[in-house]
Amino acid sequence: MSFVFTMKTILITGGAGFIGSHVVRLFVNKYPDYTVVNLDKLTYAGNLANLTDIEDKPNYNFERCDICDFEQVLAIFRKYDIDGVIHLAAESHVDRSIKDPFTFAQTNVIGTLSMLQAAKAYWTETGRMEGLDKAAENAERCRFYHISTDEVYGALELTNLAGGDEPGGGPFGDAFFTETTKYDPHSPYSASKAASDHFVRAFHDTYGLPTMVTNCSNNYGPYQFPEKLIPLFINNIRHSKPLPVYGKGENVRDWLYVEDHARAIDLIFHKGRVADTYNIGGFNEWKNIDLIRVIIKTVDRLLGNPEGTSDQLITYVTDRAGHDMRYAIDSTKLKTELGWEPSLQFEEGIERTVRWYLDNQAWMDNITSGEYERYYEAMYKDR
Ligand code: NAD
Ligand code: TYD
Repeated sequence: MSFVFTMKTILITGGAGFIGSHVVRLFVNKYPDYTVVNLDKLTYAGNLANLTDIEDKPNYNFERCDICDFEQVLAIFRKYDIDGVIHLAAESHVDRSIKDPFTFAQTNVIGTLSMLQAAKAYWTETGRMEGLDKAAENAERCRFYHISTDEVYGALELTNLAGGDEPGGGPFGDAFFTETTKYDPHSPYSASKAASDHFVRAFHDTYGLPTMVTNCSNNYGPYQFPEKLIPLFINNIRHSKPLPVYGKGENVRDWLYVEDHARAIDLIFHKGRVADTYNIGGFNEWKNIDLIRVIIKTVDRLLGNPEGTSDQLITYVTDRAGHDMRYAIDSTKLKTELGWEPSLQFEEGIERTVRWYLDNQAWMDNITSGEYERYYEAMYKDR
């Protein structure tokens, strides 16, 4: 079934994080008649400074809450009379998942289950959900949209080493992840996301909860926590610190500008098919080392350094355990069915991104000095 969804009280989880903050900003600015509720625990990755430009808007609300706390989540559904959910809150960094898989299972699996249970409970008690046999009617009254990753599909092989015509020199193989690719996660992060995707679909198939899932490729852009490749390397170049390249730097990632992901989420939330899955990506594969060279060149140029100044910072280090070789998303379905395409060429996106981090050094310094975390702990400790 497909129709334009018109519900207006939207709960966005993980809205203080990287992608979530762009989604919150888009919804608050584009839909002044919606009530947008940002539910976030403010872990190390959550930062309300990502939202200072919209925090005073009348349609924006913030609730500090752990998605694993079912009772508190349900109370938030009741407080605002939520009719749509966009669920982004998660632990998101593969390296952390290797060190601490329990936290990933807790947040990504149990947390998602708690969100699903709360949505089902509230929408049942308010008559929006009437069970499996009324799945079509349910879908006109409420919606649960789960944001996932291409990493659940596992890894593709590098079969086309010479590359192709895409901006980063790809595609580096003939195979792509499609919506029907079998799940084959390798890291504790991707395993936890895969488990959460399965729970979401199970809630549709078992209870008639109107769900949808999207799986997106690697995002880049402003407000990304500097443990991820692109902001980490921009910051390290600024401080002339080593750039730790895992393995030989030959792994391939498919990069999408974060605002294009947020636009896709907006489109799918309103016009996508319930009980369906869409892949989101920009056909933009880069070998890590080639991407790193572009970052170095761009940062050096914008800092006024002679070309090549920071090449010497490249430091090859021990590879990540179980490092997936290649991710490549086929987003043809999204283009064909809903007309979505990325709006930005990669060259422009990376230029914008590097400029943003260099122009917003206070944002970066607050995070890397650890002060922002203590600040929010102190701010909320009596709640
Ligand atoms: P992020 O780590 O930047 O932000 C995660 C947010 O979730 C933070 O604000 C954090 O405080 C919040 N959070 C974590 N645990 C929570 C809990 N228990 N309760 C409430 N809030 C909690 O992540 P991101 O990169 O913005 O990713 C957002 C979502 O998109 C995730 O579900 C991720 O799997 C998915 N995704 C990310 C990418 C990417 O390239 N970053 C690509 C595809 C999909
Ligand atoms: P990352 O940004 O952590 O995203 P993901 O693991 O979800 O793809 O890493 C992107 C790629 O960069 C990945 O192949 C691992 C590699 N990488 C490095 O080589 N060095 C680093 O310090 C980091 C953080 C990542």
